Amino acid sequence: MFPSYSLPFKFLSPFPPSLYSKGCFENPTETQIPSHLSLGDVKGDTLIDIGSGPTIYQLLSACKKFNEIIILDYTNRNCQELEKWLKKELGAFDWTPVVKYVCKLKGQREKWAEKEEKLRKKVTQVLKCDVRKPNSLAPVTLPAADCLFSTLCLEAAYKDLGTFRAAVKNISSLLKPGGLLVTVTVLKEAYYMVDQRCFSCLYLDQESVKEAIKDAGFDIKFIKEVQECSPNTFADFGALLHGVACKWGPKPAQ
Ligand SMILES: C[S@@+](CC[C@H](N)C(=O)[O-])C[C@H]1O[C@@H](n2cnc3c(N)ncnc32)[C@H](O)[C@@H]1O
Repeated sequence: MFPSYSLPFKFLSPFPPSLYSKGCFENPTETQIPSHLSLGDVKGDTLIDIGSGPTIYQLLSACKKFNEIIILDYTNRNCQELEKWLKKELGAFDWTPVVKYVCKLKGQREKWAEKEEKLRKKVTQVLKCDVRKPNSLAPVTLPAADCLFSTLCLEAAYKDLGTFRAAVKNISSLLKPGGLLVTVTVLKEAYYMVDQRCFSCLYLDQESVKEAIKDAGFDIKFIKEVQECSPNTFADFGALLHGVACKWGPKPAQ
């Protein structure tokens, strides 16, 4: 329906943050809040979320398992949108239906306000980054984290496999040796829609993602492809790839 090669390539989050959140999460359902919310056994002191976008849904599990969360994104607009929510400013996107929905799934619907507060407290920094650069945060430096988390980011940022692979290497420097990289990657997606505008995405398969992760110095601990064919015209993705990988080196002391 939307052949990617005939579209202009616009990779750096060209969509208005509020429209992305509204389009994807205004009325949460199981298909819109996918299984990547759960971090399973992964826990630690610091988690860095890379390419957070304007969204917080992906951090609802993390805020229970980590003491500190640092949010990174390429665009100022997304960082500002998240700051608005963190500071409860006027015009911030209302994540309450999503938080309520997620709490309800866990049998704790009445705890949604507590959950929101917990997440606000755990997020200590919102920083601009560019994963295409070896020092993605320059001039800022951060102590290496226990966990890097990235959902639906790297495939949206690149038009070729070489730069995708380089990005996985670049972000690995933000992680302690022995730390975990948790990723959710969209596979076989050529386009996605935001506010009736169509954007191209790097078309990836499972093998390419696995090779990029291994080549960046990780041992893959878990990998699962979940067939989640898009039920609507929001995107043409074929599956989501959930991955957990451990950075080579000694495990950090707890
Ligand atoms: C599709 S959104 C995903 C947002 C969110 N993580 C989610 O799960 O819905 C992709 C995000 O990647 C970010 N991004 C794109 N290029 C980037 C880059 N070079 N460095 C860091 N983030 C980038 C975009 O700004 C955007 O917020």
